[in-house]
Amino acid sequence: MTETRPHGGSTTAWGAPAPSDRNSLTVGSNGPLLLHDVHFLEQMAHFNRQNVPERLPHAKGSGAFGELTITEDVSQFTKAAVFQKGAHTESLLRFSTVAGELGSPDTWRDVRGFALKFYTSEGNLDIVGNNTPVFFLRDPMKFPHFIRSQRRLPDTGLRDATMQWDFWTLNPESAHQVTYLMGERGLPRTWRHMNGYGSHTYMWVNAAGEKFWVKYHFHTQQGMEFFSDAEAEAMAGADADFHRRDLFDSIAKGDAPRWTFSVQVMPYEDAASYRFNPFDLTKVWSHADYPLITVGELILNRNPENHFAQIEQAAFSPGNMVPGVGLSPDKMLLGRSFAYNDAQRNRIGTNFMQLPVNRPKVPVDTYQVDGQMQFDHSGAKPVYAPNSFGRGWSDDAAAPEETWAVDAELVRAAYSLHAEDGDFNQPGTMVREVWNDEQRASFVSTVSGALSGVQHDGVLGRAFEYWKSVDAEVGKRIEETVRSGRDQTAVPGMGVDAD
Ligand code: HEM
Repeated sequence: MTETRPHGGSTTAWGAPAPSDRNSLTVGSNGPLLLHDVHFLEQMAHFNRQNVPERLPHAKGSGAFGELTITEDVSQFTKAAVFQKGAHTESLLRFSTVAGELGSPDTWRDVRGFALKFYTSEGNLDIVGNNTPVFFLRDPMKFPHFIRSQRRLPDTGLRDATMQWDFWTLNPESAHQVTYLMGERGLPRTWRHMNGYGSHTYMWVNAAGEKFWVKYHFHTQQGMEFFSDAEAEAMAGADADFHRRDLFDSIAKGDAPRWTFSVQVMPYEDAASYRFNPFDLTKVWSHADYPLITVGELILNRNPENHFAQIEQAAFSPGNMVPGVGLSPDKMLLGRSFAYNDAQRNRIGTNFMQLPVNRPKVPVDTYQVDGQMQFDHSGAKPVYAPNSFGRGWSDDAAAPEETWAVDAELVRAAYSLHAEDGDFNQPGTMVREVWNDEQRASFVSTVSGALSGVQHDGVLGRAFEYWKSVDAEVGKRIEETVRSGRDQTAVPGMGVDAD
């Protein structure tokens, strides 16, 4: 007698024994296929729906699970349970590039995403940051334009240096972040060897209701390491998934990466008079003014078991907050607080928060009901509030604690300037005072190389002025290098930036 399920067998999606994973049902061995081979049709139909839209931006990435441990007492600044001394919180960290698509090489020069989810005892807290403490823009209205300018031309479908530099130079607030990007930070050797930053200013509130402004820092304990342009380019060809592989392999062999978690804390009242606008995402706070305060440690020690279910479908948002943590008047942050969950409803589906990777570890009792793929339901409980049938509802009359005072006309305008604001001051300081000669030489080489693809005299001229505004000498060297058509020898920099 023939054994019909020699390999133990599989099932259909509805759980019945699958007839065959190798042969479709036909009329005779050469015959036509049959509409009632439901198993075959289901296979084909599901395959056609296997992809979900990739993230726009930050499509290419990966991540791992771990734990945040709080080693110091910061209860004077925040009441959030996740940040109380002794707390251990399960965490997820996804790293990414920004501009490349899902299959793009990990080692193209780019900013890197550093997206954290903490499954806290008070709900999920996400810190969705980057490997740099600043960003290209200070108004979210510009964000879609920025991302489009870094991606592909409408006609050729090619990435284009002219378009990138046109955008950056027409938006000079980008100078600080472009300086980071064209420096060593643009080519981290691995994800384990880079820092992460919340970048924005957030609010912390303590148990007494006192408010503070805060910036998050995650400093790598593996040390900062970078690729040279040549190394990164070679790696892009040799192993496009180098960073993804490195993280997975390191954790698999028990070499769990760690980051020291610190914050800068600014008293609430300082914001108005600080020399830089503390809510301008293109600026850092000087560490001399607001020193780092160690809070704890983050370890990544558990690989995903399924990349699609746990990483591709992971959904982070700066809007996911817990009591004791709030937003700030940073317009970029406020714009982001809407953008992410909305993108995820489109990318994953209405009920993306119910997926195991996104679901909080605490009970959820929400009046959001139904929608596609609902499986976490509230039974026969009332679906409206208030109600007379015992289902609770919320109705805080007081303003939330995690908010700030405002009293002004509605305007469309840039931030008011603080004493040392200006688009070129902080990048100029970095180039002149933080970097050494090697780092400056490498930077001039990288920028000159990047500008060599610019095909428009106006954009090129503006780019020279942009860099001269950052630093007259460095700008002059960039112009000379580009105009002479020769490149300085790239020096692989291994130094560490100030922040
Ligand atoms: C107004 C400004 C911004 C908007 C509208 C925006 C929007 C988005 C959107 C729609 C996604 C895809 C989300 C998804 O499909 O799951 C995304 C991903 C991401 N963004 Fe932003 N973004 C902005 C600024 C920033 C800034 C300033 C940072 C860092 C400081 C940042 C870091 C990230 C990261 C790390 C991801 C990937 C998250 C993941 O790993 O799933 N974004 N952004």
